Amino acid sequence: MLSTIWKSVCRVLCVCATTSVVLSLSISAQTAAPVPTVAAAPSTLGLGTAWYPEQWPEARWATDIDLMQKAHIRWVRVGEFAWSRMEPSEGHYDFDWLEKAINEAGAHGIYTVLGTPTAAPPAWLTQKYPETLRTNEDGRKAEHGNRQQFNWDNPKYRELARDIASRMAQRFGHNPYVIGWQIDNEYAAVSFDAQTKADFQQWLKTDYSTLDNLNARWTTAYWSQSYSNWNQIPIETVGGNGNPGLLLSWKRFVSDTWRSYQKNQLDAIRQSADPHQFITTNLMGWFDGFDHYTITQDLDLAAWDDYVGMGHLDAVRNGATDDLTRGFKRKNFWIMETQPGHVNWHMVNNDLDKGEVRAMAWHNIGHGADAIGYWQWRSALNGQEEYHGSLLGADGTPLPLYTEVQQLGHEMEKAAPALAGTAPKSQIAILHTYPSFWAINWQRHNKYYDPVAELLSYYGPLRAIAQSVDIVQPTAPLDQYKLVVAPGLNVLSDAAAKNLIAYVQQGGHLVLGQRTGMKNSDNGLQPERQPGPLAELLGGRVEAYYALEHPVPVDGTWGPNTSQMWAERLQITKPGAEVLARYGKSNGWLDGEPAAITRKVGKGRITYIGAWMDDAGMAKAAEWMTTISHVTPAFGPVPKGVEVNARYGKDHTVFILVNLSGEAQTIALPRRMRDVLHGDETISVELTNYGVAVLSEPHK
Ligand code: GLA
Ligand code: GLA
Repeated sequence: MLSTIWKSVCRVLCVCATTSVVLSLSISAQTAAPVPTVAAAPSTLGLGTAWYPEQWPEARWATDIDLMQKAHIRWVRVGEFAWSRMEPSEGHYDFDWLEKAINEAGAHGIYTVLGTPTAAPPAWLTQKYPETLRTNEDGRKAEHGNRQQFNWDNPKYRELARDIASRMAQRFGHNPYVIGWQIDNEYAAVSFDAQTKADFQQWLKTDYSTLDNLNARWTTAYWSQSYSNWNQIPIETVGGNGNPGLLLSWKRFVSDTWRSYQKNQLDAIRQSADPHQFITTNLMGWFDGFDHYTITQDLDLAAWDDYVGMGHLDAVRNGATDDLTRGFKRKNFWIMETQPGHVNWHMVNNDLDKGEVRAMAWHNIGHGADAIGYWQWRSALNGQEEYHGSLLGADGTPLPLYTEVQQLGHEMEKAAPALAGTAPKSQIAILHTYPSFWAINWQRHNKYYDPVAELLSYYGPLRAIAQSVDIVQPTAPLDQYKLVVAPGLNVLSDAAAKNLIAYVQQGGHLVLGQRTGMKNSDNGLQPERQPGPLAELLGGRVEAYYALEHPVPVDGTWGPNTSQMWAERLQITKPGAEVLARYGKSNGWLDGEPAAITRKVGKGRITYIGAWMDDAGMAKAAEWMTTISHVTPAFGPVPKGVEVNARYGKDHTVFILVNLSGEAQTIALPRRMRDVLHGDETISVELTNYGVAVLSEPHK
């Protein structure tokens, strides 16, 4: 059955790829006739857009769909804010318009990702069930008129959310054009009402069993915080000044509550929907309101909304965010939303340069994105986001960017067969956990200490060498990696420590960055010095940490450089450990003391870096780490500013080169390869600024 659909989809694609757009449209309209019975996620690449048919007269839809088809758009995300159109008054449902929109798009080869509309409850709901509204931490209730005014923990809201999700699933769970579901939209705001507090206290009871246990693990003897009844426990999060154990528990509760909020709808959808329809939600990069590993375990795939905001594409930061998202389920992901030129919510909403939108999409694809969706197709004529970028103008005709996106869509179709079934594969893993990020952010100690920046200070130079890096949890399987790096793994659980020790004992190279192994799973201090349970294996420890007013000099294996913001004075405690770098003259405490140490353990190695080294130091350290761990680059040397990405399939590898250097570049390929976008064999490629090459090479 599937093959029938894909044949019909393919027919559309092949026609588009080989003939002019105008011709392909008339032919694809004819070939779209057989209605498939089961839909499946495009297994390769898909260009998409957020479309809001509810904002426009039905008579307009055909024009929109025609323009989408001309832009090679393969999917639309629809419905995620349309609750008041789907259920205009309580218990009165209208899905006919939605079905018409889905089917009309589908008849033109455009599939639908259906959003449940729960991020924007209708006014009648708010009015009748005010208990479903969120309460801010200052006690103020949210109001209608914006979105996300609902309380994610409220049972009545969940009942209503489940109802609308299950009715949608009953209606569309077998619609052949619906390929997947997005639950809600960008989970973020939580509630601090009395019921949520009681639920948090109950959650603590389940987690800690007894008050004695909780009191001991949170050290509540401090400041007379000891609790003699569960109902005394507050939610004290303002400014991150609550008890660190409580803060971490609250975030875990928040994460579990988002998970159950999501599962409520997910179960309702699964009950009625064809299993080929995937279920996801759109995440927000480094947003840390909840633990994304918790949320994504129930989803079929991870997706994120990639907005540059102000400025331009930062290849390191954006690439790392892709890799973070790929790490949630350790497989390819979707860009559910990305910016068509500019946003409307930053300080200066500048446009990406001509060519940059396309380059950014290919950069995402290189990092494992299988779909790129533009937000949005066309701006509503009124509403909070009138100024946001889109593909059509207010008059309904294409904006200048449309042509660039059309080119991208055409190229994605061309490259789809080569990219089908391929995924990035890395020799290096960087470890990340939400508890560690939260713990550092609550107690930065130096206000400039940003844990994302710390992670990127390792990621950037490592990726420049290896041309691929995974970002995963420390409890993930690590045996595929030659090098595992843990920058700022501040909260180290016993399970993570065990996994890391086993990794080194089995011959891996583990590098720990500053602030690693300081805290236990309750966000309390480890009773040993850093890196806590790894200190024994390291044969060394952190003697003391110093927040720095000024950079301090560092010298040794990686040449002279400086430590920024932070410096840890290390000590060797066991034979076999060696000093890699020392601090120069600074505050007296650090002068001449070890800044980095390493120890060979059988075939493995463990290294600790206590300095936050500058770019020059990090570049040298990355060179050392990768050399000593035998990490090899995916492709080979390229000019600075040219991004290399590799995606591996069963019998071939695809390399995606994106030129972000600011000028034209000629790149000599390490071997002869097939230029997928141009169809010929080549040994070198010329890339304009923002130029892209997609190259395929069979496995030997
Ligand atoms: C004040 C308080 C102490 C302690 C110190 C920390 O002096 O009285 O309890 O909090 O600040 O600097
Ligand atoms: C988010 C939301 C969208 C839209 C865009 C604007 O990604 O999910 O609904 O508001 O931001 O940038």
